[in-house]
Amino acid sequence: MRQLKANVYPVGAIDWDRRLFDELIPLPDGTSYNAYLIRGSEKTALLDTVDPTKAEVLIENLVKAGTDRIDYVVAHHGEQDHSGSIPDVLLLYPDAKVVTNPKCKGMLIDLLNIGDDRFITVDDGETLSLGDKTLQFIYIPWVHWPETMGTYLQEDKILFPCDFFGSHFATSSLFVDDEATVYEAAKRYYAEIMMPFRTAIKNNLEKIKELQIDMIAASHGPVYDRPEFTINAYRDWVSDEVKNEVVLPFVSMHGSTRKMVEYFVDALIERDITVKQFDLPVTDIGKLAISLVDAATIVLGCSTVLAGAHPVAGYAAVLTNALRPKAKFASIIGSYGWGGKMAEQLTGLISNLKVEILKPVIAKGHPKDDDFEALEVLADEILAKHKELGIAD
Ligand code: FEO
Repeated sequence: MRQLKANVYPVGAIDWDRRLFDELIPLPDGTSYNAYLIRGSEKTALLDTVDPTKAEVLIENLVKAGTDRIDYVVAHHGEQDHSGSIPDVLLLYPDAKVVTNPKCKGMLIDLLNIGDDRFITVDDGETLSLGDKTLQFIYIPWVHWPETMGTYLQEDKILFPCDFFGSHFATSSLFVDDEATVYEAAKRYYAEIMMPFRTAIKNNLEKIKELQIDMIAASHGPVYDRPEFTINAYRDWVSDEVKNEVVLPFVSMHGSTRKMVEYFVDALIERDITVKQFDLPVTDIGKLAISLVDAATIVLGCSTVLAGAHPVAGYAAVLTNALRPKAKFASIIGSYGWGGKMAEQLTGLISNLKVEILKPVIAKGHPKDDDFEALEVLADEILAKHKELGIAD
């Protein structure tokens, strides 16, 4: 059985075939539900479990690791992809106690019907001795639920931060062996799951700064044995800095909006602004989310349907509003046939964003000379705004 360090065993499950999470998030590379068995000289702890669909794999791995008793099941997070097999483990190991914080305990009782008598609650910073190994619990709220905590294994200097630093990436490698590939998966994960809680994550990064960390073993994806790689990436993503980039998701029914998008993309390129264009009906929303991590400006391209925004553009606006990227500016371009309030409707859907709305460009039917001129003006305005931020020349 593989080990991270002596007597620290990965006992979770790889889910190669899963393609959707929360019935929303695409998983092009599958995922894993990581759980770790830590055998101390006196006590044994299991850190997290797995998605209930993979409970059998966890149980097989525990058997393979020769686990005749578990004293503690540490629950870092209430979400079922990590907590969902706790009832199976408690059945198999009737003396095991669930170790978690009071908030997570409440969730586990609500979600999994675990009896109150099975819990031990711990405070932030509290330690639990397994004999020659010591677990230190660290509250790291809002990565991405309010109750989440991590464990620092003091003697081995391993941080188990649950979803924090995770990546949906199925691999047979225990450790990260291709940083570029994992960077993309981890950024996708951050964008889709962590980005709405950027401020809390900044605080949590500060909180773990004092720890000496040799490894980060998150609850999804391979283990980082060069932890500064992912810590530095997170510092970049959560920083207040934006990049000289425009994200341009669009939907076009009969080609008018597409014509405007193509013209506008060229105008931005002419001004040395990086553009990321997404044809919404066929795009991977994970790629769109990744692009929202850094961009200074979001421009939504939209056709008009039944006097309102095309529903696919509405979906993109609602999603962006939920992900709360740090963009500073936003606008709308698109066309209409006979009327409607498409631009007003879309700007109303992004009220969570702290953006200045730049004047939309809406054409009647196919775009004409004055519409293209208005797109030039919008491109100039974006360049001027980016220059004010010091991110464009
Ligand atoms: Fe991987 Fe929030 O569960």
